[in-house]
Formats: sequence, C-alpha cells, structure tokens
Amino acid sequence: MPEPRILVFKNLDELSQAAAREFSSLATQSAAANGLFTVALSGGSTPKEFYQLLATPAFKIPWTRVHLFQVDERCVPPDHPQSNYKMIREALLDRAPLPAANFHRMAAEQPDREAAAENYATELRKTVGAGPGEWPRLDVIFLGMGEDGHTASLFPGTAALNERERAVCPNYVEKLKMYRLTLTLPTLNAAARAVFLVAGEAKAETVRQVLRSTDGTPPFPSQRIQPAYGSVTWYLDAAAARLL
Ligand code: 6PG
Repeated sequence: MPEPRILVFKNLDELSQAAAREFSSLATQSAAANGLFTVALSGGSTPKEFYQLLATPAFKIPWTRVHLFQVDERCVPPDHPQSNYKMIREALLDRAPLPAANFHRMAAEQPDREAAAENYATELRKTVGAGPGEWPRLDVIFLGMGEDGHTASLFPGTAALNERERAVCPNYVEKLKMYRLTLTLPTLNAAARAVFLVAGEAKAETVRQVLRSTDGTPPFPSQRIQPAYGSVTWYLDAAAARLL
C-alpha cells in the first residue's frame, strides 16, 4: 500500500471545502465510469461542515448515482441526540436531492444487533455488487479519528478490531458503556479510498503517533486502515498537524 497522502489546511473550514471538492470530483468520475458512486460516511462532529457543504449548489454532485452508507452508528434511536444518522440527516440529507432509497441507514436501534449488522452487510454487498466471498468494495470511506486513535467504532482493545468474518458487526465499547454497529476492518480495507478528516489541537499528539511513530507501540485502530488495493488520505487542519 502506498504511503498515506497528508494534506494540511489552515482551518476546519478550508479542510471541509477541500473534502467537498474531492467528493464532487470523485462522484462525477465514478458516476461517469461506473454509473454509481458508493460512499460511507462517519459520524462525530468533524465532518458536519463538510456534509453541509455537499448540499450546497457550489458542489456539482450526480446525486441520483450516489449511494451513501454509514461507517458506524451508535445503538440509539435515529432521532436520538447521539445518533450519527441524525447528524447526517440534518447536515446533508434534509438539504440535498439524494433519492431516499440511496441513503442506507444502519438500524442500530434494533434490539437484535447481530441481525441488524447482517442485514446491513447484505444491503451493502448488494448495492456495491460484491460477489459471494468478496468483501464489499466502497469507492470512498470518510473516517474520523478520536484522541485514543479509534476510527469508525473500532476502539482500542475492543472485540470488533479482531473481526475477520463479518463485514459489519456490533461492538461493545466499555469506556462508553454502549454498543455500536460498525463496518469492520476487512470492509474498511476493501475500499478504494480511505479519507480521514481530523481537526483540532487535542488530536495533534495522536496524529503524530499514528503517522510518525515506528517504535512498535500497539497500532492504533486508525493505523489498521490500510486498504490492500486502495489509498489513504489524511485531511488535517494546522492544529491537528502541528506535531508532524
Ligand atoms: C462516531 C464516529 C467516530 C468519529 C470519531 C471522531 O460514531 O463517533 O464515527 O469514529 O469519527 O470519534 O469524532 P469527532 O469528529 O467528533 O472528533
């Protein structure tokens, strides 16, 4: 896998603008080449401005050819303040002309989390056209990173980090005392492109360790994102990149 591409921007606004330009360019290319553009979006706070920008006329996006998935979801109702879907709906879905059927929501509120994960994996495979025994290959996954180096809902020391059979699985996060649903490493690493959006001084030390440390410390979950046939790009603001 080639070295990650690292792009540093003055602030979160410029980072978000650049990410929206890349999304628009990739969507146009992929829709023209394959008739489809498949993307998985993370939750959290960093990507909110990026999602809001995508819904503005400044960015030309072939929405009828776009299919949006979720990287992960908290096991709460879809209208819960902590729901990633709620954030994505308010920032993007309520503003952009994406056909309703083209947003694939993780039903993480379902009591049977295993069934919800399996159903989501089936929907993902069907949409991207994964054959039997193939990992579903998304065109792009947009990821965030926590100060502990987690990404998606793959937190350090949690069981889902070791998942090698399922494309989507539930994950209990002890430090948060909550369950999540998450794309697993085989799915994330099957993507054609992984794009991290990371901003803020609080993440600078973790960014340094994730991108620069070679002392054999246990790999942070974010370091495990290494698409076998894909690329990794880090979009950082100056504050998060300060120690590089
Ligand atoms: C989630 C996200 C998670 C997020 C990081 C960074 O469900 O919380 O998918 O992986 O990307 O926690 O979150 P911030 O952008 O809020 O720092």
